[in-house]
Amino acid sequence: MEMLRQAARKAPDITWVQADAATLPFPDRSFDIASCQFAFHHFQGKARMLREAFRVLGVGGRFVLRNSCPQESSDWLYYEYFPEAEFRDLRDFWPPDALMAVMEGAGFTPVTVQYEHLRFEQNLRDWLETVRRRDTCSQLQSISDAAYAAGVRRLERELADGSAPATRSDHLCLVTIRGDKPNGGHLSAPRRWMPAEELPHRPFYDGATLHVRSYDSMNSGDRPVRRGDVSFYLDLARRAGGEVLEIGVGTGRVALQLAKAGVRVTGLDLSPDMLAIAAEKAAASRLVERLRLERGDMRNFDLATRDFGLVIVPYRAFQILLTPEDQFAALAAFRRHLRKGGILALHLFDPDLRFLLPGATGPVDRARCVDRSTGRTVEAVLETALFDHVNQTRRDLWRYRTFAPDGTIAEEEALELSIRWSFRWEMRHLLQFAGFAVEAEFSDFLGSPPAYGKEQIWVARNS
Ligand SMILES: C[S@@+](CC[C@H](N)C(=O)[O-])C[C@H]1O[C@@H](n2cnc3c(N)ncnc32)[C@H](O)[C@@H]1O
Repeated sequence: MEMLRQAARKAPDITWVQADAATLPFPDRSFDIASCQFAFHHFQGKARMLREAFRVLGVGGRFVLRNSCPQESSDWLYYEYFPEAEFRDLRDFWPPDALMAVMEGAGFTPVTVQYEHLRFEQNLRDWLETVRRRDTCSQLQSISDAAYAAGVRRLERELADGSAPATRSDHLCLVTIRGDKPNGGHLSAPRRWMPAEELPHRPFYDGATLHVRSYDSMNSGDRPVRRGDVSFYLDLARRAGGEVLEIGVGTGRVALQLAKAGVRVTGLDLSPDMLAIAAEKAAASRLVERLRLERGDMRNFDLATRDFGLVIVPYRAFQILLTPEDQFAALAAFRRHLRKGGILALHLFDPDLRFLLPGATGPVDRARCVDRSTGRTVEAVLETALFDHVNQTRRDLWRYRTFAPDGTIAEEEALELSIRWSFRWEMRHLLQFAGFAVEAEFSDFLGSPPAYGKEQIWVARNS
């Protein structure tokens, strides 16, 4: 109430209403725009609040939600000095993917997301003055007194003994999610979908599926999991020298960039349909001289070239191997094709235990794009994940759909992708067992140190 009183003093012309965001005291369709700024994490009934926003909007109305995004802000100084704040924020702030899935379930379409990375220099003495005023930041108010005092003490000590520099680079990510209330056609006839489990489904990379055809459009944006990967591999290629072998080359997202930069690349993939797209792109960019494409299984392949300087396995393709035996066979095949002292770079995700709990399923992952060749919106939703904790595998059932201009479903398919998760030390031992000497492990492609729940990026030498 006190917040509203302060606001009313500043702007008496605005109607200020006290109510719970999960039960809005307004009739249906009474607003054109609804917004929620830096507040969503405080709500108890988050999903209900999103449904209420949909209800009170008129047809053609828009909901805009803006907030900080802790999932993308692990290097924010507040989290470094007050780690309890990061822990709480990761609990209270829904990941954008989950939020979008619920908005979509409420009826918003399309739902879009935009990330804004604020990078700035922080003067630590000025910052100390700011954090001493605990009420300036809700993160400081939400943590325990002990955690707050410990962070302030650490900063004071580091500034006193000179172990902290005068200024530090800081980074905070903000996220804006927009959802539109579509016109009546969609609303009066809500689509009821058959669960993906009940639809006939096929393997993820099998055939010229909607998934395969829209792979490039879907993956053209800046996805955090592989941000900077092309530059990372290019840098490794330049340092290693010689030819590069990309395993699971797919549509050539990485390989074509390397070839464009003058590197000779061989790309291996099991899917003829992914390879066909890569070949078409290589021809269109006149890169066939520098990019050779081969069909083969990473567990067992034999190429004429056996002295690659670098083997790369981007975008978690190694996790498609479902048993330690297959993983070992693949590592042995990579090694056979590397020259002595050559480098292997592997990209996996580091298991986030929250997503591996039994019952932690549901539409928590989704993506949308406009297919460049058809101009149609394509949507991918992870509907079900089935876990086998003994074998460390999960079987994901995805639904892909594309829409006609009138919003009806033009094409739909259910696909299955099984992957295996590997823990950090398991990977390290496996690499060593296969004859590689681990040179580095990062948690992203910018070179950040290993971190729980992020990426595992391994750089190992054929020793
Ligand atoms: C996530 S995509 C990665 C594509 C590309 N490297 C990129 O980063 O965009 C994984 C690729 O691995 C391929 N793949 C799956 N199993 C394979 C296997 N056993 N051997 C070779 N390639 C495989 C798939 O066909 C698919 O093209």
